[in-house]
Amino acid sequence: MKKPDDSLPYFAVFGNPISHSLSPVIHQAFAKQLGKDLRYEKIEVPIGKFHETLTEFKAAGGCGANVTLPFKQEAYKLCVQLSDAASHAHAVNTIGFDGDVLWGDNTDGMGLLNDLNRNKGIHLEGKRVLVLGAGGAAHGILPVLLKQNVSKIILVNRTLAKAQALAAHDPRIEAYDFGSVPTMVTPVDIVINATSASLQNAVPDISPNWLNNTMAIDLAYLRQRQETCFMEWAKEHGAKQVWDGIGMLVEQAAISFQRWHGVVPETKSIIEKLNRRDFSID
Ligand code: ATR
Repeated sequence: MKKPDDSLPYFAVFGNPISHSLSPVIHQAFAKQLGKDLRYEKIEVPIGKFHETLTEFKAAGGCGANVTLPFKQEAYKLCVQLSDAASHAHAVNTIGFDGDVLWGDNTDGMGLLNDLNRNKGIHLEGKRVLVLGAGGAAHGILPVLLKQNVSKIILVNRTLAKAQALAAHDPRIEAYDFGSVPTMVTPVDIVINATSASLQNAVPDISPNWLNNTMAIDLAYLRQRQETCFMEWAKEHGAKQVWDGIGMLVEQAAISFQRWHGVVPETKSIIEKLNRRDFSID
């Protein structure tokens, strides 16, 4: 890896914890592909110090940043200009500066959509979708699913009130908790695991009947192996195809990159590299 050069355009990902983040690998790969030189760092932000850290970053010449857990809502509140996606999600994962004006976007939903459409050949129109989880990841993707005219979203969360709050936005969403969701099911086409359960090596407590004959995607991914426990469980119970969240991760990064640099990177080769669990920055 080249030595960081202070004169290069400066980008970063803000989070806590952040050591696991693959954003530097992805953004450096995009930059190399497009013949750009940039600096992209991981910044571990102390809890309660997001605003202060962002101010220091800007003063140090920062041009733009990705924002990850647990600061996406805080970033949303600080941004003066918000994209429609960020306004709908109430969360920001990409920020930039237009002079002194802080703008924010949320590229998670479009990242998932691009991944489904372009990499997996899945089109959402008219589909019945089961979404597990009602946290930050679900907030980012639901507006995009609805905009694609899915026919129904069955939204199941451990904490019912969070699913109900999201369902209040659209009559096509039915909200349940794991105790109340039916076990005899009208089949769904797609299952999206937007919980963080796989990171605890746990599978959401739902009847396996839901998985039969579906395409199942876990938005989580594991650094050390290609299959999460959810993917293994989904396959075991009849899912036709299963994926982890690497494709969405790279696609959401590509949209951030485009917002900052005005050019669209190619994503397939980076997804393949990460699918091989090759995290080198070359
Ligand atoms: P993120 O922004 O990554 O979605 P989050 O906002 O903490 O993170 O949300 C995590 C989601 O995973 C939530 O929907 C959470 O359920 P609760 O809202 O009830 O907390 C869900 N989750 C986490 N661990 C889970 C588990 N073991 N089984 C089922 N759901 C789980």
